[in-house]
Amino acid sequence: MADLSSDFVGIKSPNPFWLASAPPTDKEYNVRRAFEAGWGGVVWKTLGSEGPPVVNVNGPRYGAIYGADRRLLGLNNIELITDRPLETNLEEMARVKADYPDRALIASIMVPCEEEAWKAILPRVAETNADGIELNFGCPHGMSERGMGSAVGQVPEYIAMVTRWCKQYYDRPVIVKLTPNITDIRKPAEAARNGGADAVSLINTINSITSVDLDLMAPQPTIDGKGSHGGYCGPAVKPIALSMVSEIARAEATRGLPISGIGGVTTWRDAAEFLSLGAHNVQVCTAAMTYGFRIVEEMARGLSAWMDEKGYRSVSEIVGRAVPNVTDWQYLNLDYVTKARIDQDACIQCGRCYAACEDTSHQAISMSPDRVFEVIDEECVACNLCVDVCPVENCISMVKLEAGETDPRTGRVVSGEYANWTTHPNNPMAVKAAE
Ligand SMILES: Cc1cc2nc3c(=O)[nH]c(=O)nc-3n(C[C@H](O)[C@H](O)[C@H](O)COP(=O)(O)O)c2cc1C
Ligand code: SF4
Ligand code: SF4
Repeated sequence: MADLSSDFVGIKSPNPFWLASAPPTDKEYNVRRAFEAGWGGVVWKTLGSEGPPVVNVNGPRYGAIYGADRRLLGLNNIELITDRPLETNLEEMARVKADYPDRALIASIMVPCEEEAWKAILPRVAETNADGIELNFGCPHGMSERGMGSAVGQVPEYIAMVTRWCKQYYDRPVIVKLTPNITDIRKPAEAARNGGADAVSLINTINSITSVDLDLMAPQPTIDGKGSHGGYCGPAVKPIALSMVSEIARAEATRGLPISGIGGVTTWRDAAEFLSLGAHNVQVCTAAMTYGFRIVEEMARGLSAWMDEKGYRSVSEIVGRAVPNVTDWQYLNLDYVTKARIDQDACIQCGRCYAACEDTSHQAISMSPDRVFEVIDEECVACNLCVDVCPVENCISMVKLEAGETDPRTGRVVSGEYANWTTHPNNPMAVKAAE
């Protein structure tokens, strides 16, 4: 059976599934139950400085985006870091770590961007025997207005500076949690590495307003007639997180920097995708909040079964496997030609493919009077939209033209050779190079 054990920057856990810093990890009672359910590790809900705990709103904190079946696709929150006293959290962390030595326990920290503030909290965290710290440079609301969270994560110089303080005053692994609310994720990741970070984790939540109450004319969740932007997460953010993880895994300046992948992980497959794009483990928040702690059972069972099927013996064998296949657009093979094919036996004649193709400008699907839908190869540009909108899985597939076949749309014979934009005759830069 596949070995699910994980070693993330020297932090060992029985599996690569950690709970992300959030309400599920806000107290001892929860974390103990999470460990009993099988989670490999937790990142404790973010700790703040000593003093009066932060104050949360007392109205609704969350908003959601749903699929047609009311399955939760995206969650938005306006919650802050832990609102429990620092001392209480530290005592609980120490007790839990002592009772679960084989699980990873990470302290997430967000204190003002001043050396004294970090110097004060780090020894106290070290006393809990936590396996490492995660610097929360990500929260996009509430704390960022006070110069913390994403306000730090958006300035690479600050990231490097704070990371350096942490490496100076703390002797266990330092993970820097990145905000996605930035144009180029490689810059903060590079700054974290320059500051001496052992790893980065991403993504934290994305600036968002989920919806507007049109009677109140106010964003939701609405607090006494007003709303503010919050942080978006859940399955809807996974594509953004996957792309950012892959960028850090590919970039020269950050290649090899260990990554903890976060954002919409709900199933074992999501986790495997993050691992394949360069994450060394994954963290989960929304899925645990939506379905409960036991979701980890399915994740672990599913990942293990898939690894057995594929012959992967350890998690590390999956890490980064797909990275060499992530490329820039200009290197995609322009001589790879496909056409849509409709399986008439599977088709339920709903007509969605027809409407989409017709009105998206290709007019490549015909509809007969008795509602038989067929692809017109002379028009099909192989965009994949019909596959995307068809309600029947695998009813439409994209079939590759073999070398020697003629594309009836362009009249060109498929060469079977690899030919990309860098050498294409229409590319002015290619012409220049040839001259
Ligand atoms: C209600 C809520 C509270 C959160 N609080 C924190 C926090 O205190 N510290 C932190 O680093 N991230 C916090 N996060 C962000 C999560 O740790 C995680 O980065 C994000 O939700 C993306 O993962 P997901 O799609 O699995 O939810 C919070 C998320 C939610 C939904
Ligand atoms: S692949 Fe695109 S162009 Fe071709 S039939 Fe489908 S929707 Fe139309
Ligand atoms: S969308 Fe799919 S099921 Fe509906 S008509 Fe087209 S091929 Fe048939």
